[in-house]
Amino acid sequence: MERKFIVVRELSFLLALLCCSDALESPPFTVVHSEVDVEIRLYKELLWMSAQVQGATSFEKSTEDGFHRLYQYVHGANANSSRLMITAPILTTMAQAPRGSDYTVRLYVPEKHEGAPPQPYAELDLHLDKWKTRCIAVRRFSGFAKDDNINKEKEALVSRLNKILDGKNAVLGDKSSYAIAQYNASSHLSGRLNEVWINVSGYASGGCPSY
Ligand SMILES: *[C@@H]1O[C@H](CO)[C@@H](O)[C@H](O)[C@H]1NC(C)=O
Ligand SMILES: *[C@@H]1O[C@H](CO)[C@@H](O)[C@H](O)[C@H]1NC(C)=O
Ligand SMILES: *[C@@H]1O[C@H](CO)[C@@H](O)[C@H](O)[C@H]1NC(C)=O
Repeated sequence: MERKFIVVRELSFLLALLCCSDALESPPFTVVHSEVDVEIRLYKELLWMSAQVQGATSFEKSTEDGFHRLYQYVHGANANSSRLMITAPILTTMAQAPRGSDYTVRLYVPEKHEGAPPQPYAELDLHLDKWKTRCIAVRRFSGFAKDDNINKEKEALVSRLNKILDGKNAVLGDKSSYAIAQYNASSHLSGRLNEVWINVSGYASGGCPSY
């Protein structure tokens, strides 16, 4: 009980802003393959504001750190003092690095701002990140995304994909690199939606690029 309380409180700033709207803008995609527990999606070019987190050791801490910076950005810490629309999800990418992991936390830049979103304050150390069209395999899970369950969710996705893609001439991207997408305010204790994302390349249908 106590542990749960602490976790909820620590996360309470995180996604707190997502509390009041069910209709946040999210990156558009089309589904090119669908199964009960796995979906392959085609995302066209996307623009993200991204926060790299240096020297982090945990998914939860990195997400807090990165989100905190992005939160300030959308709340006016930018060259135009503009308040921007918050979007969903908060996307945390983990990649194996020579020493430990690299974490990048991203927020989708809505189409309205595409091309020229306001410059973030330099001290936030944020960067615009343009994604080329790509296909991503996605597995949903509920509850809270945490250090002690995300790896299991990733493994479950990889093992399903190995079956689904078998013989389809597609390759999983680097299996040690994956992302966790969180859609809900931490104040929502139930009905939560999270996803694990992994790159797929060379999937032969649906317009997925072959690189
Ligand atoms: C930010 O301000 C500059 C200078 O006033 C303006 O040219 C630019 O269009 C603004 N950008 C946005 C995204 O509002
Ligand atoms: C996913 O694929 C894109 C496009 O091929 C590539 O730039 C990116 O580094 C990949 N991301 C990961 C986490 O593997
Ligand atoms: C969590 O976010 C998803 C996606 O936006 C939404 O469908 C769901 O209703 C949200 N859950 C709660 C409890 O608000």
